[in-house]
Amino acid sequence: MQKTELLYEGKAKKVYATENPDYCIVSYKDDATAFNGLKKGTIVGKGVVNNRMSNFMFQLLEKHGIKTHFVEELSDRDTVVRKVSIVPLEVIVRNKAAGSLSKRLGLEEGTPMRVPVLEFCYKNDDLGDPMVNNYHILAAGFATQEEIDKISSMALKVNELMLEFFKSIGVDLIDFKIEFGKTSDGEIILADEISPDTCRFWDINTHEKLDKDRFRRDMGGVEEAYAEMMKRIGLN
Ligand code: C5P
Repeated sequence: MQKTELLYEGKAKKVYATENPDYCIVSYKDDATAFNGLKKGTIVGKGVVNNRMSNFMFQLLEKHGIKTHFVEELSDRDTVVRKVSIVPLEVIVRNKAAGSLSKRLGLEEGTPMRVPVLEFCYKNDDLGDPMVNNYHILAAGFATQEEIDKISSMALKVNELMLEFFKSIGVDLIDFKIEFGKTSDGEIILADEISPDTCRFWDINTHEKLDKDRFRRDMGGVEEAYAEMMKRIGLN
């Protein structure tokens, strides 16, 4: 399948149309941003890690009944995906406190959550992706109640499957963000990516951070952390 016109260029990915209207090609870049674009940089090789790891995770989730946009990996950076319209919500699941939740609730990073925490943010860079609740989503028309219910149950199932998988490779899944898309026939499927850019991964024993927090917090060892995740997954 060939790329035709560029449909969209985001912070970390480009999306191209193809000759088939049902499919797009996603191309992953090494560009990294944080704090809603205020911090910019490059993580060498990140595009390859995020592409290959996302595709690995999508295939694992598909095996357990989660429908995703994944179709075919074309190369280290390029993947064919089903064309969807993205539901304008960032869906966050948290198993332990970290990042914005730690700040908001004054909880030390690493504090276990008694139940997984599900959060929705409205995807809008100009507004800084504000957190929204069920009522906001319905009132603003971002999704229907049926779609919210489907997204919530899929997100919690994805969390269960990912927790188990990452534990098996010595990684504590602290939290993650996923996005969903709607196909032309109205079906909700998992889209976007699952990578060290969008998840918090801590080594299960040492609690060393193996994710984008190393970039966000200027900790160094960013490329090494991404490579370590690839190694543990068995992708290099
Ligand atoms: O910053 P915060 O603690 O809210 O992030 C929660 C999770 O969502 C983290 O795993 C982070 O990597 C991810 N996230 C993301 N994209 C955003 C905001 C958060 O992937 N725009």
